[in-house]
Amino acid sequence: MCGIVGYTGTKAAKDILISGLKRLEYRGYDSAGVALERAQEGGTTLDVIRRVGKVAGLESELAGVDAASTCGIGHTRWATHGRPSMVNAHPHVSCDGRIAIVHNGIIENFAELRTELEGRGHRFASETDTEVFAHLIEEAYAQTHDLLAALREACARVVGAYGIAAVCADEPGVIAVARKDSPIIIGRGEHGSYVASDIIAVIDATRDVVVLEDGQFARLTPADIEYTDAQGVPIEPAVTHIDWDIDMAEKGGYPDFMLKEIYEQPRVVRDTLVGRMTAGELDIDELGLSMEELNLIDRVYVIACGTSYHAGLIAKNLIEAWARIPCEVEAASEFRYRNPIITPSTLVVAVSQSGETADTLAAIRDARIKGAKVFGITNVVGSPVARESDGVIYTKANKEIAVASTKSFIGQVVSLTLLALLLAQVKGKLTTGQVRMLFRELGDTAEQIQWVLDTQGEHIRDAAAACVDAHSALFVGRGMGAAIANEGALKLKEISYLHAEAYAAGEMKHGPIALIDPGFPVIAVATKSPVYDKTVSNLKECEARGARIIVVATEGDDDIREIADHVIYIPRVRDAFCAITATVPLQLLAREVALMRGCDVDQPRNLAKSVTVE
Ligand code: M6R
Repeated sequence: MCGIVGYTGTKAAKDILISGLKRLEYRGYDSAGVALERAQEGGTTLDVIRRVGKVAGLESELAGVDAASTCGIGHTRWATHGRPSMVNAHPHVSCDGRIAIVHNGIIENFAELRTELEGRGHRFASETDTEVFAHLIEEAYAQTHDLLAALREACARVVGAYGIAAVCADEPGVIAVARKDSPIIIGRGEHGSYVASDIIAVIDATRDVVVLEDGQFARLTPADIEYTDAQGVPIEPAVTHIDWDIDMAEKGGYPDFMLKEIYEQPRVVRDTLVGRMTAGELDIDELGLSMEELNLIDRVYVIACGTSYHAGLIAKNLIEAWARIPCEVEAASEFRYRNPIITPSTLVVAVSQSGETADTLAAIRDARIKGAKVFGITNVVGSPVARESDGVIYTKANKEIAVASTKSFIGQVVSLTLLALLLAQVKGKLTTGQVRMLFRELGDTAEQIQWVLDTQGEHIRDAAAACVDAHSALFVGRGMGAAIANEGALKLKEISYLHAEAYAAGEMKHGPIALIDPGFPVIAVATKSPVYDKTVSNLKECEARGARIIVVATEGDDDIREIADHVIYIPRVRDAFCAITATVPLQLLAREVALMRGCDVDQPRNLAKSVTVE
């Protein structure tokens, strides 16, 4: 996740870019940079200034730059391809330095394009996927001498997602813009034209904006903005008036970051899968282990904390079911003090959103000393977990701001599912055809989450109202449902301060059922699965004791209403992927209960986003 801002007009561009980048900084702050046009004798040139770290560093650097430039583009980066560094910071430039671009998104075919461009003599300065755009535009510009036309040609070659803004020293005052699957907004203000990846960056200057659609292009000049489609035909997009205040704008119009991040989950599924199936084969090239090494693995430990640990519980089910490798899931804080059995054929999978959780890091170091191969799953490029592991999969959740993990959990489960598929394929337990089919179905969960978000809000609010005055709640399920129940209980207790516990539904009769008295909330994951009937029997035992029963069930299951006081539906989904879809209503339920109890859902008491102490 990165931020883009651009300005062309009559005021000092550097001030507008810095203030916009500061507003976008919550989206990522590995590095920041600007490209500013500078008029000089003999023509215009571009000054590209970049700094590793936060925007404040770039601001200090720009203090010494004169304020004459009135056109430029800026970027704040959240690293995806290429570690956080000066060379990987945006803007990226063409070989001759006369074209500069900033880009959000992922270019899936960048490796092929890079090879092709290098073959024609282009020199690359960074490890990023983005840089291919600068060279593609440079080639097209040599033919067209029209920045927007060159950008259109470049976009036609690129597979992937982009929000992009480009400037060219040969077209002073012009910013060319395009978008596909990555947000771009454009607006006119009193002093010129503005582009940004988020309204927050330019809300002080303009409130009437065009939200660029996929396949639309724009040419910004100080006096005007022209829009075209992908063929260059002029279009007149609709203008939206924004009446949010700054606080709402930062949250994209959502009342809190938690809700915003829950709604980002369909995108997280899609982005985490981008580039993972190449020519019909699973592609996890950052694995750091050869196929031979993978084939030798005879034991897997997933080590993690909190929500990441729960993603591990889901993975255990998949790795054992598909790859037939014994898999244990351990709290990282326990793992290193337990003297676990580790051999060179043990794979330790360390899962951490932040990539800097102290317990997880300590466990990684310990596992490596004992000879295990360590594989990291993290959301933060270049984080300690990534650096200290033999290989890594990056979840594409982008920066998560709410303390309660939501979208990063979905990214972790999707990544772990990919790993389970890979192990199963390498071990010969699943055929290539089966892996492809499962991969497709995994991708379908994006739409299934969207369906839950679009249709279940009212049912979730009703269910939340039934919990709000409780002293305690039980989350139950069997199989995958039991694993999901753990995450539901954690979400509820951490943001609503309502005590909640998760239990395997079949275990209720061995103790916890004693807790139940009339009105006690029992929240069950009882989707259609091989253990559905067993779960329903366990729920009947709770019903008989007066529990208030809330069920996450499969769409079309009307029978469940006989025992449930509240039903929240998810679409029919293969049991293996149920965690991705069924966790979403539990996140929303926890948030509703927390709000009804007057809690701050983004910053719950006593917690921190990164836990860097043991
Ligand atoms: O950054 P990590 O994934 O390593 O963090 C682990 C836990 O601290 C984290 O999941 C925590 O439990 C969250 N607050 C849960 O919402």
